[in-house]
Formats: sequence, structure tokens, C-alpha cells
Amino acid sequence: MRPLFTLTKRLSVIAELVEKNSVVCDIGTDHALLPIWLVKKGITDKVIASDIIDGPLLNAEKNIKAYCCEDKITVVKSDGLKNVLKYEPTNIIIAGMGAETICEILSFSDYAKEKSPLLILQPMTRCEVLRKYLIQNGFSILSEQVLFEQGHHYVVLTARYLQEQRHYFDTANTKSEVLYELGGITNTYNDFLNYKKEKYLYSYNQIKQNSMDFDGKENKLNSLLEFINEIDKRLLEDKNG
Ligand SMILES: C[S@@+](CC[C@H](N)C(=O)[O-])C[C@H]1O[C@@H](n2cnc3c(N)ncnc32)[C@H](O)[C@@H]1O
Repeated sequence: MRPLFTLTKRLSVIAELVEKNSVVCDIGTDHALLPIWLVKKGITDKVIASDIIDGPLLNAEKNIKAYCCEDKITVVKSDGLKNVLKYEPTNIIIAGMGAETICEILSFSDYAKEKSPLLILQPMTRCEVLRKYLIQNGFSILSEQVLFEQGHHYVVLTARYLQEQRHYFDTANTKSEVLYELGGITNTYNDFLNYKKEKYLYSYNQIKQNSMDFDGKENKLNSLLEFINEIDKRLLEDKNG
């Protein structure tokens, strides 16, 4: 039997969020490393590994066979959730895609609202788009983790549709645009907050120095200042313990 591979840090964080004995659907599985790892570690014995493209599906099938997991992992060609809902997944993983694609996939059906599966989401870009979608569509954001790997910060989110929307972070005194941008990311992730602050500062200075006026320039500058101030507040909370 082949020795089991080591997962990347990003995939490890995702794997640790999967609920034991859940029916897992890994949308956009590519190589199917995550499904194989979940089965081999005994987290679950029912995984749907799906992808929209034939090449990744062939890779997935090859790997699943090599690790003798054919009886526990079903490979399905599917655009997002289209062909996988009949398996009634209780955990849905959508990782390694842009936030817009994740939102499109989630908006395909009411399954996530009706059956309340745990959603484990890892957008590669524009996390604010995903937070906005989740918050505006009644999903509760249950957790967020930030990890740093190979020069990139990654945010891994869990969400679920609950009867009453409640996020793991306090929303009372925070404007919605700030919530979309920063979610509940706190002092624990100082490096990430500083990285975001630098990006906002850079954009702010670029826009400020640009002599051209454009529609919404003042609003954009004000928003960036709000994000920067919010980060300073969160960083200060850290210093004060
Ligand atoms: C960068 S890979 C990520 C693989 C793996 N999920 C990970 O996080 O390492 C993105 C995969 O998503 C697939 N994909 C993109 N859009 C999709 C969609 N709408 N439905 C299913 N799979 C999709 C691509 O074919 C590709 O295999």
C-alpha cells in the first residue's frame, strides 16, 4: 500500500474542519487529494469528488484508484452543485476558486438553505465578495481562519444556514462594508491585518495622488480610510490584550 501523502497547510486546515462521518462533497476537487486524505484518516467513508473538467476528473480517478478508495469516493462530473445534490452532502467544500465562482455555485439551488450543510469555503481572491453574499443571503459565518503558505494569505471560512442568522463575530457597531472586508478577523492574525492595511494604504495614496476626478472618488477614499481605521482598532485591541 502506498504511504499517504502530506497535505499542504491550506488543505490541512480545510480537512480539519470536516465533520466526522459526514457525507462530504468536494466541489472542484482537481486531484482529489482532500477526499483521499479524509477517507484514509477515517474522517468519513462517503465522499463525492466532483469537477467540471475532464482532465482533473481523470487525475482524481487515477489517484483514488492508486489509494484504493474507489468504494468510498464517487467521482462526478458536475458544474458546481448541479449533479451532486442527489448524494445529499452534509459537508460541502468549495476551495481554490475565486469568490465570484463560489457565490455562483452556492446560488444555483436552495439546497444549502433547506438542508443546512456545513459549508467549508476557501476563496483564492476577493473574500469580501463571498462574505457579502453569505451575509446578505442569510447564512451565518461560523468561523474564519487565515493561513500563510508560499507567500500567500488564505482565508478559510465555515458557514451554515441557521434558522436565525448569527455570526461568530459581533456585528453591532461595524458598518456592513467593513464587515464584508474584514469579517471577524482579529488580533490573532496580526500579520494578515497589517498586510491588508498596507494594501488599503497603497490604494488610498494612489487614488489621492491621481489628479483626475472620477465618480465616487471621495467615497472610495472614505471607505479605504474606514478599513484602515478599523484595522488600527483591531490591532490596538491586540496590544491591550
Ligand atoms: C485550483 S483548483 C482547486 C483544487 C482543490 N479544490 C484545491 O483547493 O486544491 C480549481 C478546480 O475547480 C474546478 N472548477 C472550477 N469551476 C468549477 C465549477 N463551476 N464546478 C466544479 N468545478 C469547478 C477546476 O476545474 C479546478 O479543477
